[in-house]
Amino acid sequence: MTICTNEIVPSEQEFLLFQSLVHSRLGISLPKHKRVMLGHRLFKRVKSLNLSSFGEYYRHINLLENAQEMERALELITTNETFFFREEKHFDFLKDEILSQVSPNKVFKVWSAAGSSGEEPYSIAMTLQKHCITPWQLKASDVNNSVLEHARKGIYIDDRAKFLPAEYRTAYCMKGTDEYEGYLRVKPELRKKVVFFNFNLLDSMADMEHVDLIFLRNVMIYFDDDTKQKIVNNLQKTLKPGGWLFISHSETLHGLSHNFELIKPAIYKLNSKSE
Ligand SMILES: C[S@@+](CC[C@H](N)C(=O)[O-])C[C@H]1O[C@@H](n2cnc3c(N)ncnc32)[C@H](O)[C@@H]1O
Repeated sequence: MTICTNEIVPSEQEFLLFQSLVHSRLGISLPKHKRVMLGHRLFKRVKSLNLSSFGEYYRHINLLENAQEMERALELITTNETFFFREEKHFDFLKDEILSQVSPNKVFKVWSAAGSSGEEPYSIAMTLQKHCITPWQLKASDVNNSVLEHARKGIYIDDRAKFLPAEYRTAYCMKGTDEYEGYLRVKPELRKKVVFFNFNLLDSMADMEHVDLIFLRNVMIYFDDDTKQKIVNNLQKTLKPGGWLFISHSETLHGLSHNFELIKPAIYKLNSKSE
């Protein structure tokens, strides 16, 4: 059975099912006006499985043993938009204010949480490689395995890299040829230095190694205040005292209880007495 075009938009009830699913699994709050967007993101998949409605798809992914389809549905619903050197002020601050003052003989550790398909982590890696005078480590996570796979390959269409400074492109990227004309690939030496792993921000960070800097950008915008608060509590325990948190310029910690000092818009420093 195929879906009729007028079923591209899920019914209100169907929307509520997916709204509650993404909230419980990922912490994402889908507002009502995203009903049409949800339909667009899931429609092709529902159709290719020959299911008659979004409700039927919901039941299909909730069947026992259907973890793979559950993962696929969540991947279709989440927004993975990103690009190289997005919000470049963060990279300037990292270079000019943080890396210029790192303690010698210590390893500088960074975590790009929700790093999507790798553009953010590789922008950090390029900045560190060029400007960090001490050894450094960078880990990058996301909840979406497809974007992580993309990130590990490190191949990007040139259009996605228009904000990548020419000097970094020359130093750290290879130019695609033949079937890869119009693409670039991050050089293996740099790719090897980034550890990509799957991590859901709703999960405990108790086993996470302490880091000097966390990038958590353009993801909290999807969370409600309770979820944000839990994540911020965990991040505080994961950062070293005096460590840094970068969020996006369209996000804020305003209204949450925390131990950070706002240094500049979207740049926070953990109180050095924090654990
Ligand atoms: C809009 S992208 C932001 C990427 C990058 N940080 C940037 O600013 O360009 C948001 C990312 O958050 C991820 N995400 C959503 N919910 C998550 C969760 N609960 N845990 C970890 N990552 C999550 C999505 O998979 C997506 O890749």
